[in-house]
Amino acid sequence: MSDGLEGVIAADTVLSEVDGEAGRLVIRGRSLDDLSGHARFEEVAVLLFDGFFENLPDQAAFDAALGAARVQVFEQTRALDSVLNALSPIEAVRALMARLPDGDDLPTALRLLAAPAVFAPAVIRAGQGLAPIAPDAGLTQAADMLRMTKGHTPTPAEAGALDAYLVTVCDHGLNASTFAARVVASTRAGLTSAALAGISALKGPLHGGAPGPIIEMLDQIGRPDQARAWIEAALDRGERLMGFGHRIYRVRDPRADALKRAVRILGEESGALPGRLAFAEAVEQAALDILKARKPDRSLQTNVEFYTALLLESLAFPADAFTCVFATGRMAGWIAHAREQVAGGRLIRPQSRYVGPEPRIAA
Ligand code: COA
Repeated sequence: MSDGLEGVIAADTVLSEVDGEAGRLVIRGRSLDDLSGHARFEEVAVLLFDGFFENLPDQAAFDAALGAARVQVFEQTRALDSVLNALSPIEAVRALMARLPDGDDLPTALRLLAAPAVFAPAVIRAGQGLAPIAPDAGLTQAADMLRMTKGHTPTPAEAGALDAYLVTVCDHGLNASTFAARVVASTRAGLTSAALAGISALKGPLHGGAPGPIIEMLDQIGRPDQARAWIEAALDRGERLMGFGHRIYRVRDPRADALKRAVRILGEESGALPGRLAFAEAVEQAALDILKARKPDRSLQTNVEFYTALLLESLAFPADAFTCVFATGRMAGWIAHAREQVAGGRLIRPQSRYVGPEPRIAA
């Protein structure tokens, strides 16, 4: 048996390929570098959905339909009450998503694709004691999400940075949340159920919950010259360094570079980031040196979450809501994988090996 199903091929997919040796990510025949910073999230969603829905509209009609879906799901934010507001942001977004009807058609997919982009800003604002802001169907999903979070229209650089992020994380092979989504889809439960499984898996700190703690780590380290001591102490306590290591990549995660590029471009526009970026780079280098010294046999490299944290922080998302933004991008992949599973896959039903006690034989 393979611990954690490592190395097991559990699905054939046309959606994305993660090459862990070469550090390469291909999304439907396009390299990540070709897409991140160049394509809009809506364009990548169409790329992923193509062939999995009847009557997928052209790009302009898809953009309009997604904008309309944001307006439609905004109604659900009325359900934000003291019970939901007491939850963590990702739990509150999940609870709102669970109110959406199940289905397998394009309208269901569009509602789900719109949902985290609308629910996360509403949840973030509720946490700040502010009322939700209604969507503007004419904006891109990235620009609208920022507008609904901050209360004003973002600069093109800010919207571009969030678009680059959403595209960078839209799909990534059979990661834990996508596998969870495919398992649920394989039972024919519907897209909403599959997406809820995805978001539930994503929230864990070993998957999409890592970037929030990265900000805590950076804040606790405080100064570049304190990085080594802080990291050594954390590892001595048996902790894992968030933002480093990956099940598949044995070289640097290509998404880390795509996001670092987006952080740099945004910093050049705003003039606010260079110091923070230089500090983060110093922490990253110290972490890589120490991990290499401590685990010479295991190549532990920077993963997507490290520069996710920096990018989302510079876009003024609160650290405890970073996973909600991750879910906004990955939703496109969950939906496409769920449709692919239903189209060609059987019920996913592996076996377990019983290692418990035998029943006692009655005398
Ligand atoms: N910090 C410190 N040690 C780490 C580490 C990290 N970030 N990632 C892996 N290791 C160590 C493990 O403790 C293990 O050591 P051991 O053999 O002495 O127990 C060894 O490296 C191998 O790790 P393993 O647990 O087999 O890796 P995995 O493939 O199961 O896990 C992650 C991959 C991503 C879960 C893991 O690297 C991790 O926990 N990273 C931090 C969380 C994170 O950034 N998640 C976002 C992923 S995109």
